[in-house]
Amino acid sequence: MTYEMIEVRVEAEKVGIITLNRPKQLNALNDQLMDELGAALKAFDADEKIGCIILTGSEKAFAAGADITVMAKFTFADAYKGDFITRNWETIRTIRKPVIAAVSGFALGGGCELAMMCDFIIAADNAKFGQPEIKLGTIPGAGGTQRLPRAVGKSKAMDMALTGRMMNAEEAERAGLVSRVVALDKLQEEALGAALVISDYSQITVMAAKEAVNRAFEGTLSDGLMFERRLFHSLFATADQKEGMDAFVNKRKAVFTHQ
Ligand code: CAA
Repeated sequence: MTYEMIEVRVEAEKVGIITLNRPKQLNALNDQLMDELGAALKAFDADEKIGCIILTGSEKAFAAGADITVMAKFTFADAYKGDFITRNWETIRTIRKPVIAAVSGFALGGGCELAMMCDFIIAADNAKFGQPEIKLGTIPGAGGTQRLPRAVGKSKAMDMALTGRMMNAEEAERAGLVSRVVALDKLQEEALGAALVISDYSQITVMAAKEAVNRAFEGTLSDGLMFERRLFHSLFATADQKEGMDAFVNKRKAVFTHQ
């Protein structure tokens, strides 16, 4: 597939990098962009050589939200019949390999929501996060009212959703929305470093860890603990567990075969 609104490349033969590329519109997210993003994510997920995916934007904008010029003309019937936002925004949830958001500049509305759909966020020091939909007479429609409170707690999520104000990178890190903040010129290097670390681990174990952490957001503690324990038990059936522990015991570097 050829892409017009994203750029796709592979680093070190094991990290897939997707760059949102609609610079004039600050990477505003329309159907074509989201379809291309979904296709690129699925292709990397299916590629055995790829161990981790990075999703990034430009220095000025990760993404400034869903495309307002498209939504401005929408009727209820358009949105409801077309299942607007769900149609092509859910693909990222189905990706089993880790997806790191490397965010610089604006991550607003759907852009903030897209970053939160990734497994973790590394932010540049110029990053700005926000759910400004209230200013447009609407509310977040791609999970912002659900994922933001889980990430930063009710008070700050309410503050963001009701005032529409932006949070800078420092506040986002303090609140737990992002895992690390680095200088803008170090963002890609930092994200790639994290992705390379992850790519060298067993893909099976990495997928299991991702599934287990995600479970913490979608059920009770008892269910989550049981899910984790059973996954933990099942990993004793993998060659990679044998390799990882044998390597530790024999003081050598583990070489995982993803089996
Ligand atoms: N949709 C469509 N176009 C957008 C856009 C968006 N979300 N965000 C920015 N643009 C366009 C602007 O219209 C402008 O286009 P023109 O050059 O043709 O006028 C171009 O990108 C550059 O933007 P600005 O001139 O506004 O740049 P700025 O630096 O002055 O401001 C900004 C940057 C603060 C991000 C401002 O563009 C802005 O507020 N954007 C809208 C942010 C927003 O409200 N996002 C939420 C959208 S709703 C949503 O996402 C729903 C959901 O939950 C899924």
